[in-house]
Order: sequence, then structure tokens, then C-alpha cells
Amino acid sequence: MTVARKMPMTKNSAELNYNDRGLELPVLEGSEGELGLDINKLRQDTGLVTLDHGFMNTAACTSAITFLDGERGILRYRGYPIEELAEKSSFMEVAYLLIYGELPTAAQMKSFTQAINAQSQTKPELQSMIQAFPRDAHPMGVLGSVLSAMSAYYPEYLDQDLSAEKASQVMTQLMAQVKNFAAFTYRTGRKEPLVQAQSSRYDYCTDFLQMMHGQEPDPEVVKALNVLLILHADHEQNCSTSTVRLVGSSKANIYAAIAAGVGALWGPLHGGANQAVIEMLQEIQADGGGYKKFIQKAKDKNDSFRLMGFGHRVYKNFDPRARIIKQSCDAVLAKLKIKDPLLDIAKGLEEEALKDPYFVERKLYPNVDFYSGIIYKALNIPTNMFTVMFALGRLPGWLAQWKEMAESKDTKIGRPRQIYTGAVERSYKPLSSR
Ligand code: SDX
Repeated sequence: MTVARKMPMTKNSAELNYNDRGLELPVLEGSEGELGLDINKLRQDTGLVTLDHGFMNTAACTSAITFLDGERGILRYRGYPIEELAEKSSFMEVAYLLIYGELPTAAQMKSFTQAINAQSQTKPELQSMIQAFPRDAHPMGVLGSVLSAMSAYYPEYLDQDLSAEKASQVMTQLMAQVKNFAAFTYRTGRKEPLVQAQSSRYDYCTDFLQMMHGQEPDPEVVKALNVLLILHADHEQNCSTSTVRLVGSSKANIYAAIAAGVGALWGPLHGGANQAVIEMLQEIQADGGGYKKFIQKAKDKNDSFRLMGFGHRVYKNFDPRARIIKQSCDAVLAKLKIKDPLLDIAKGLEEEALKDPYFVERKLYPNVDFYSGIIYKALNIPTNMFTVMFALGRLPGWLAQWKEMAESKDTKIGRPRQIYTGAVERSYKPLSSR
């Protein structure tokens, strides 16, 4: 079932005057009042393209899944505020909400969970593939590889245009398998035997944790993981989600699209930041804990050091997820009776940065990655697994966005233009004359 979408309305128009010609460009308004200039006919009418490094001013699509307001620090999944979902919902329920557009009824939740559980065993060949990687392979490289390899074992999901039923099957299959791949990769990295899924016995997060650590987890740990996965579940057109959409727009199969999303998320400017934050905090701790020096380094244009976990392309106010994670840091560490000096360093760093004009003027606040690693550490998840945890959380968002892209009549293969700045035409010169 897909939710009826309110297509953007043409609110008014903007006049572009170029080469003594006037061109009227429609101004579209979204359901939250966001305005966008519709330039779909710009090149055919004027010969002009727009140049927008990093797509900072460009909407690549319309979407009804997630709404962000960067100035007001608002994040809603299908209209529900992230604060309410983090407090009252579960990761499975949020996954259903993102993919199908509505909170599930009890019957819908049951069949969604059953569909995931029915596909919770991983083919021995894929388990062996994970175990064949070197012990110190980065888990994101393993995850992307085995996701792509699924295309070799499930040809029934490689059709260009999957039916709604097949799409649901492959999405629930991926929900089940990525959980397994993450846990298997972790166990392989520690040269420990794989622990198989027991999804008929445990809920999603409990099952993942027992597959990771080989024992039933503390209910507090399960609760904390549920919240973290909900907070990471979607974030509109971020780098990795845009990658999933772009790959899907060529009608490549879903495994290729999700594997590509894993690749994009791996970068330290994106999902890889959660690992980089902990490594940064550990560097500060090893250096004696004085963070003022690191604040100066972050401001120094000649120093490549950045305050990892700070700043955001969209949020120019607090990332609402960071606020929730910071609050649960204290609660989780207290419940698990853990004292982590890195939390005090992180809080001190935040306090110092938010007093510094450099960060205030650039509206640089903590983002989702700044505190999340502190909790992952408390849940006994190693640093090199943090970005895989981000991918596990983001999976339902990628799937929902892929489905919306595949179903949209507006979808065309993504193919940006460019402004060429290379050599103008010239003739070939034989080697003897060069
Ligand atoms: C995620 O898009 C999403 O929604 C992503 C995400 C999601 O849920 O999918 O929210 C997840 O990726 C969060 C971001 C994680 N990355 C980091 O924490 C890495 C550190 N942050 C930065 O690299 C940066 O803030 C970005 C990449 C997050 C955003 O970069 P932008 O929007 O391209 O901004 P920019 O690099 O042009 O910075 C603007 C200014 C620059 O200074 P000036 O040239 O104006 O003097 O702010 C400075 C930058 O030097 N700046 C920083 C900084 N971030 C920006 N300076 C020091 N430390 C930082 N962290």
C-alpha cells in the first residue's frame, strides 16, 4: 500500500531574463511550504544548465518519506516527529512506516515480521564468503561485497521492474540478511564461530545482539539499540540515499543499489564519521584530554583536522538526533554502570565549540555521529563496526527511498550535466613531433 502523495503545487513563478528573452519558471510548493524552482525545461528553452557543487541548492526529486527543517532542527518520518518515534515506537515499526507510509496495524506488523523471519537464514555460500575475508577487513567493505554477491544467488529479484509482491519480498529479505551479515562480519573479525539467527525466538534487535555476542543481551542494551536504529533509519536525500536512488534509476537491481549506498555511507564525511569521532576523542584523550588545542586545529585552514561529528549540510541548528542520543548516553551508561571518559571529553568539546565564534558563525552543531559511538562502545560494539551499525539503521530508509524512486512516474535515469573546462578542439600529433 503506498500513501497518497500530495504532489507539489505550482505556487507562482519566477521570471528569468536571459539574452533579451524572458522565461517563466514555475515555483513549486511542497506540503511543508518548501519552495523550489522547477527548471525541468531550462536547457531546452535557454540552452543553459545550472552549476551546483554538491547539489547544495538542488532538489533531485519530490519525496513523501522524510521531512527535515535544518533551521528549526525538525526531523519527521512520514509526518511523525523523530522524538515521538524514538520514545514510543520500535525499529521494526519504523521500518514498516518508512517503507509503506503508515504505522502498521497489529496484523500488518505480524505479517511484516513473519516475512523478515521467514528469510532469516543466510545461504552457507554467503556465510563462507564473509568468513573468507581477512580478519582485519573493514566491515563496510565486507557488507558491500556480500550485498552485491546476493545478485548471484537470488536471480528472481534482478528483474528491472519488480512486482509489488516481489519488491516486498526482497526488501524483507534484505532487512533479515543485513542484520546477519553485520553480525557474521563481526564474529569473523574476531575469529569466533558464527551464531545463527533465532528470529522465531527473539525480536530483531535482540536477535542481532545474540548473534553478535553469542548470548542473550541485557534488555537495556536492546532498548538503546532500538532507539539508535530508529534515529538512523532515514534522512531524506543524503549522500548514500541519493546514491541508492541514482543507481536504481538506471534499473540496476536492488542489491547493486543498496551495495552502492553502503559504499557512499562508508566515507568519513558521511556515515564513517561515527568511527572518526571516537578515534578523534581517543586521540584527544591520549594527548592529555586538552580539547582547546583540537578546537584550534579544527579552525586552522592549513590543518586537515576537522571536528568530526560536527556540522551538517542541512541542520544549521541542533541535529534533533544528536540531542536524543546525548540524553540517552547518560541514561544508558548509568544503567550499564559504565563510566566512559570519552563522554566527558565529548561534552567538553561541544561546550567549547558552541562558545567559539568560528563554530557559531558557521552554525556548526553536533550531528547524529557525535555521540552515537559512545553508546555503541557501551553496547560492546567495536569502533570499526560503527558505520555498519549506521547502515543497519539506514537500511529501511534506503529501501523506502528505492521503492518511491521505482514507483514514481517522474523517475528518469539520473544523468547530471557539466560545464566543460578542458582543451578545445585540437589535432593529433605523431610521437615524433611532440
Ligand atoms: C551524516 O546529509 C545527511 O543527512 C547526512 C547524515 C544522514 O543522516 O544521512 O546526517 C549523516 O553524514 C552527518 C555528517 C557526518 N560528517 C561529519 O561529522 C564530518 C565533519 N563534518 C564536516 O565535514 C561537514 O560539516 C559536513 C560534511 C557534514 C557538511 O559539509 P558542507 O555542508 O559541505 O559544509 P562545508 O564543508 O562547506 O563547511 C562550511 C564551513 C567551512 O568553513 P569556511 O570555508 O566557510 O571557512 O564550515 C567549516 C568548513 O571548513 N566546517 C567545519 C566542520 N564542518 C564544516 N570546520 C571544522 N570542523 C567541522 N566539522
